[in-house]
Amino acid sequence: ENLNVAIVGATGAVGTKILEKLIERNFPVKSIKMLASKRSAGTEIVAGGKSYVVEETVPESFENVDIAFFSAGGAISKMFAHEAVKRGAVVIDNTSAFRMDKDIPLVVPEVNAHVLQEHAGIIANPNCSTIQMVAALQPLKEKFGISRIIVSTYQAVSGAGAEAIEELEKQSGQFNDRANIQAELLPSASAERHYPIAFNAIPQIDLFDESGFTLEELKMMNETKKIFGDDQMSVTATCVRLPVVTGHSESVYVELEEEGITVEELKSAMENAKGVIVQDDPSSQSYPMPLYAEGKDEVFVGRIRKDPQHNKGFHMWIVSDNLLKGAALNSVQIAEQLVQS
Ligand code: A2P
Repeated sequence: ENLNVAIVGATGAVGTKILEKLIERNFPVKSIKMLASKRSAGTEIVAGGKSYVVEETVPESFENVDIAFFSAGGAISKMFAHEAVKRGAVVIDNTSAFRMDKDIPLVVPEVNAHVLQEHAGIIANPNCSTIQMVAALQPLKEKFGISRIIVSTYQAVSGAGAEAIEELEKQSGQFNDRANIQAELLPSASAERHYPIAFNAIPQIDLFDESGFTLEELKMMNETKKIFGDDQMSVTATCVRLPVVTGHSESVYVELEEEGITVEELKSAMENAKGVIVQDDPSSQSYPMPLYAEGKDEVFVGRIRKDPQHNKGFHMWIVSDNLLKGAALNSVQIAEQLVQS
């Protein structure tokens, strides 16, 4: 049976990818409603040989909608998600608005599809950096157990939306005058100060918490434990924004519960995982890079090494397209799970 689908944030970096993935994967749609702010109402979006006219998001937009994808920021989700549920829609929310709510499933289908069995209308899609990390680590968690994760991220500007991509593009022309670049958006629209992203690395994504961690870091720490269903796991993160357009990279240190596991065993566990590609051959300089992960659905893992000083410790490099597995693809996969069950 075909479904009426709505995309809130349809003109955004993630919203446009959700439409693409729905078409590419032949999601059973009857209609797709493209919703955004009043500013872009009337705009036409062409995809898969069809033209879609963008409408302003209002509570009534969700009448007769079966599945609503939200990717227009947490404030918009808080404003409209319950309106959508009230009208009978299931909401798949790509913002951080509801992720840590106890009664809301936080889902990466390869890891915890089973939590979809019980929901009250809203399902949360995790943070982009979290998704690619847990997707790659799931086979290790399952086979060997994981007690500790220390991750540093190297994140692309597209994670901060279409305007952040424009900001990088604009600043990138200023190679010779890079000390005088004016920044308007990054690290965060709501932060007091803004720093250039071109030719730079910014160790702040989202705002700071009083603990000294940023909210992005706390998202990775808390969401990872929730998705793995393991409060005891130790997870800490440092999140950094780089002048990369699309594709998040992560340097991940993992401590297994089991002792004496070899790099080969670790690799073969990951090679057999759905949606994960091990790309790891130092002799041919083969390792994942964001430039080549852009547009790909998979999570790529390379640079796998055993810690010489720690028998249960391993280092690796995990890369994926943050707009796809990190956002749009994962959301559409959640919808596919809902349709199947
Ligand atoms: P609009 O293009 O009309 O501003 P990104 O993540 O790339 O920054 O995109 C944000 C998305 O959220 C855009 O599609 C944007 O639409 C949408 N958006 C922003 N404000 C609102 C709003 N008040 N109501 C609905 N959608 C909104």
